[in-house]
Amino acid sequence: MTPLRVLSVASEIYPLIKTGGLADVAGALPAALKDCGIDMRTLVPGYPDVVKAMAAAEELLDLQNFYGGPTRLLAGSHEGLDLFILDAPHLFARPGNPYLAGDGRDWPDNALRFAALSRMAANIGLGALSSFVPDIVHAHDWQAALAPAFLHHASRSRPGTVITVHNLAYQGLFPYEMLETIGLPPDSFSINGIEYYGKISFLKGGLQFADRITTVSPTYALEIQGDEGGMGLGGLLRERSAVLSGILNGIDTSVWNPQGDPHIAATFSTDALEPRGANKLALQQRLGLPPRPDVPLLGVISRLSPQKGLDLLLENLDTILAQGMQLALLGSGDHELETRFAAAAKSHQGRIGVVIGYHEPLAHLIQAGCDALVVPSRFEPCGLTQLCALRYGAVPIVARVGGLEDTIVDVDDAARAGLAATGFKFGPVTADNLGRALRKARALFEDRTAWRGLQRNGMTTDVSWQNRANRYAELYHDILATRRIATHRDRTV
Ligand code: ADP
Ligand code: GLC
Repeated sequence: MTPLRVLSVASEIYPLIKTGGLADVAGALPAALKDCGIDMRTLVPGYPDVVKAMAAAEELLDLQNFYGGPTRLLAGSHEGLDLFILDAPHLFARPGNPYLAGDGRDWPDNALRFAALSRMAANIGLGALSSFVPDIVHAHDWQAALAPAFLHHASRSRPGTVITVHNLAYQGLFPYEMLETIGLPPDSFSINGIEYYGKISFLKGGLQFADRITTVSPTYALEIQGDEGGMGLGGLLRERSAVLSGILNGIDTSVWNPQGDPHIAATFSTDALEPRGANKLALQQRLGLPPRPDVPLLGVISRLSPQKGLDLLLENLDTILAQGMQLALLGSGDHELETRFAAAAKSHQGRIGVVIGYHEPLAHLIQAGCDALVVPSRFEPCGLTQLCALRYGAVPIVARVGGLEDTIVDVDDAARAGLAATGFKFGPVTADNLGRALRKARALFEDRTAWRGLQRNGMTTDVSWQNRANRYAELYHDILATRRIATHRDRTV
């Protein structure tokens, strides 16, 4: 049987370019899907780091003017990923963050940049490459969301389409006047199209026109149909609930493997947890914290944005100090939060260690060395750091939202339901409730046997992509079956 062909479209992909979990997912899905008989290629923008890594890429298309400049479509492989690269230097030959200019603001031509990405995906979907005609186009987030809209408006037969919402907070809103430049027909600008309060919404285009909508956890799939979680798109998502589902993310267990992680001081496993202590020591040294095995060390690895609720952790500094705990935080983003955490580290040297920045190896050491990983998000579509924490024997303390709700089993819930506990959950998401969860964890930390039990339960939880990738494979097959039935019906009427 020929494998099903899927074109994944993403604005970032690990290990080439990453600002968050979207890159991890886009980078891990293709390998996981291979075992399910799916041939997934990924279309990504030709940012400098991507083009540099793909020096041996083959040129497939050469266009004189694509969204304002000469553009090539390249194909190549990198660390097992089969990639199409949209090499449009006028849009993407800019170093640094893929979305923001040096001043921290969005690039002014982001509408054009990501309309171009989506348009190229649609063109490939419509047969622009004879060597790869996809059965399905799978778009991720607003940056790729116009692909299903372009395909919907195409006059030729089109592939099936999926949009995955990794974060509803980012919607890609642009002025109405850009409609023509973007390349969508005038009639697409309606309440049943991409119009959103007088603006163009890229994400709405995807949600409106894709055959199926997925998001990255079952609880987030419910939350986004509500007024608050829906962030202005709840009504549309309720209307389309029959084609909306939540599929949990996994993590790449070869990248996140405590038994063979090159970034940590000592490797360890469920059966041999002792060496974990050396990682705690290394982390304490790295962050200028006293080397104390007996003191609970909290870890945080996060974008610093209001979503992540880390202001609530700042409100709990007194609790952390009074309870005799240490904190190791790695993060970057919001300037005010960066400043407040840096100031906390300065005022409480030896208790609070903060590294502002983006640092993969340190993220691994924190997972391997902290006792508990804190994720107090106000909303969290899935969250990956708590999954890495489970695998690394760091006990997650998380807010009861989205994917955090779905992936962690709270100590008290477990006792009531006879389940294996893996962490602590708190909700509603307030500073007080976070404080309560921190104190509860602090108390249980003293019971070494119970704590070991939590660690072991977490480390034996399946956080891999295997079963989750199957769900995507089923979804793709389902779309094609539904479309075949519809085509057959049209022909026989
Ligand atoms: P989000 O995508 O909302 O930022 P996720 O938990 O899904 O949240 O994914 C975040 C990813 O980015 C994880 O792989 C995490 O380890 C990584 N990460 C976040 N902040 C940093 C940082 N400052 N340094 C290194 N890795 C980070
Ligand atoms: C987003 C979400 C995060 C999710 C990630 C990958 O960035 O904020 O919760 O894990 O996408 O799906």
